[in-house]
Amino acid sequence: MKVIKRHILVFDRQGSISVELRRLISQDFVFSYTQSAIETRQALRNAYFLVVLVVFEAAYFLKQQQEIEPLIAETSRVEWIALTESEVLESREFQAFILRTFYDYHTRPLDFERLRVTLGHACGKAQLRTSLNEKKENYEKFHICGASPVMTTFFQRLEKVINTDAPVLISGETGTGKELVAQAIHKNSSRSNGPLVAINCGAIAATLIQSEFFGHEKGAFTGSVQRQIGKIESAKGGVLFLDEIGDLPMDMQASLLRVLQEKTFSRVGSTQVISVDFRVIAATHVNLHEAVAQGRFREDLFYRLNVIQLELPPLRKRGGDITLLAEAVFQKYFPVCKNNQIKGFSKESLRVLSTYDWPGNVRELINRIQRAMVMSENRLISPADLGLESLVSNHPRLTRDLARASFDRDLLETSLRKNGYIVSQTARQLGVSRVTLYRMMNKLNIAPDQ
Ligand SMILES: Nc1ncnc2c1ncn2[C@@H]1O[C@H](COP(=O)(O)OP(=O)(O)OP(=O)(O)O)[C@@H](O)[C@H]1O
Ligand SMILES: [Mg+2]
Repeated sequence: MKVIKRHILVFDRQGSISVELRRLISQDFVFSYTQSAIETRQALRNAYFLVVLVVFEAAYFLKQQQEIEPLIAETSRVEWIALTESEVLESREFQAFILRTFYDYHTRPLDFERLRVTLGHACGKAQLRTSLNEKKENYEKFHICGASPVMTTFFQRLEKVINTDAPVLISGETGTGKELVAQAIHKNSSRSNGPLVAINCGAIAATLIQSEFFGHEKGAFTGSVQRQIGKIESAKGGVLFLDEIGDLPMDMQASLLRVLQEKTFSRVGSTQVISVDFRVIAATHVNLHEAVAQGRFREDLFYRLNVIQLELPPLRKRGGDITLLAEAVFQKYFPVCKNNQIKGFSKESLRVLSTYDWPGNVRELINRIQRAMVMSENRLISPADLGLESLVSNHPRLTRDLARASFDRDLLETSLRKNGYIVSQTARQLGVSRVTLYRMMNKLNIAPDQ
């Protein structure tokens, strides 16, 4: 196994400790040295230092205390450890300073074994604090919950994507947060003052699609009683979000390609050329490589859109994020769920949340928890409240497909009923395209006109 060395900064005015510390160098730590407060402040701009060791000398310790106090106050992410000579600790004022400020202190001559243990613990604590801070920062900035390693890598990539103006293709299974990511890119980019205009490419009737994208002039076709601005024109100066791009009909793919190449278009029923400036973000839950190979998606359009890829991992690969999200949903929904007796999740339900496969990803997690919060008669949400009782160990195992089918059927039938079996309206309410809804209904043998 590869050992990852941890970086320690040593502030040592006299350079007296380096020889002693060399004994620890070949082990788990890498030491860098500074001899002044200014140098230390500069070095701490490097995020990779987890711990600072400060060597206090009997002759200077009060001056050193004055130098170091402001530095400690402004650097909250690292842990500080003091190395002193024992006579320095006779000063009561200095004792108080050490207790107030340092993770631990050591006296010389050094006990290397104890120092190694302290450094290990202090590094662990600093890493934990950094990860908690990052989690908070990412949520505040992007409104996306996640602290798992896969999501941390995703956020690093997202930061880079935000700083460019190139087309982005977001892929991921249904309910993984593709739309949320498009919103995060827009909100944090230089185009945040411009609009974010979304088109659900699978939800528009074939006869209206040109007009929806490009707009039309009065009288362009029967029923066009006045001029209508299209989505592309509305996105001027902002972002055009092409959701479910895989569902875009072939002839529209050709028209879109032309706009992306030339950045100009004309409204339906007009020859006037309009130029537009927008950033394009597309999202897909289908594998576009496969769609290209099967001739359902134009290869040239695919390459236009696929300049930068962002792939959202499925929820089942996000480890501890499942619990994190579950708690966040609970907190958010609690004030409106009208069930004051509900206090949280039972241990068993937290376990099943972590073992279930989540085919519908974050959306399914939110739906299951919201439903459980309303319906539960317990103080703590149980696996049965979540519709996941079959995952409790003494039940026969529920397969991923069966669980998904039963959940989808329940959701679809209720939504269709509520919307008077009007498919377009139901699709809108569920946030999926009509094509997707028909596909799901087909798979589950649900007739559209019950
Ligand atoms: N990491 C997350 N943190 C908080 N909320 C999330 C997260 N991911 C998704 N959500 C929420 O889950 C729901 C589904 O997300 P979204 O609509 O962005 O998914 P999607 O990938 O576009 O799904 P689909 O493929 O079905 O269109 C939304 O309510 C969204 O706010
Ligand atoms: Mg979506």
